[in-house]
Amino acid sequence: MPQTIIAGNWKMNKDLRESEDLLIALKSALATIPSGTTVVVCPPFTSLALAGSLLNGSAIALGAQNMYVEDEGAFTGEVSPRMLLAVGCRYVILGHSERRQYFHETDEFINRKAKKAHAAGLIPIICVGETLQEREKNITPLVITTQVRGCLQGLTPAQMKRTVIAYEPVWAIGTGKNATPQQAQEVHALIRSLVKEMFGTDVADAVTIQYGGSVKPENAAELLRQKDINGALVGGACLKADSFSAIVRASA
Ligand code: 13P
Repeated sequence: MPQTIIAGNWKMNKDLRESEDLLIALKSALATIPSGTTVVVCPPFTSLALAGSLLNGSAIALGAQNMYVEDEGAFTGEVSPRMLLAVGCRYVILGHSERRQYFHETDEFINRKAKKAHAAGLIPIICVGETLQEREKNITPLVITTQVRGCLQGLTPAQMKRTVIAYEPVWAIGTGKNATPQQAQEVHALIRSLVKEMFGTDVADAVTIQYGGSVKPENAAELLRQKDINGALVGGACLKADSFSAIVRASA
């Protein structure tokens, strides 16, 4: 059985003071978490150290939104997996569509990052998803297949079991327009079948596949009821403690 993981991607929101307020509110709103659900928050880099100390001892896990593929050195502006671990991160989001779109990240680069994350002991949350144009051209399965194979190739089965995949249709991100539970389930089933092809049934049955794209308290339960949807990667609705905690409760 895959683990249910609800993660909040804060994106480029919340300065240090605002982060502190949100983290304190989240800790009290999520003092009890449904059993079997893992909650992860992913604040911007500048708030990670603070978040690490505020969340220490709580049931809320910490993740970063990106990382580089080296441990240290002359890579101006980058942050290494070792640095993330040192402030208490256990997860790292890789290959978000905004990084693919604005920072030209490729499947090959995301694959390198995934291997590096595992080598360092971080759990990668690897994002895939088609654009509106690709969906309208009916090439969603091809796009997803290419991304999944490209991002996951060369991982060991043990690493893959600990990898989280997030299906985030680009047209549903920040638009208020979520994929229908059926649309999402269809792609999630495809992703699981691809993992099965690459890593075997055991791994495919265990891997967590999150849905992301306009997840809100109102639509979370129905999305999470789908057979192959094992969690959510939440953007806008994770910036308020009440809406994020309502989504977490919907996972029960
Ligand atoms: P929204 O929930 O704001 O649509 O963002 C989804 C997302 O991109 C999470 O990574």
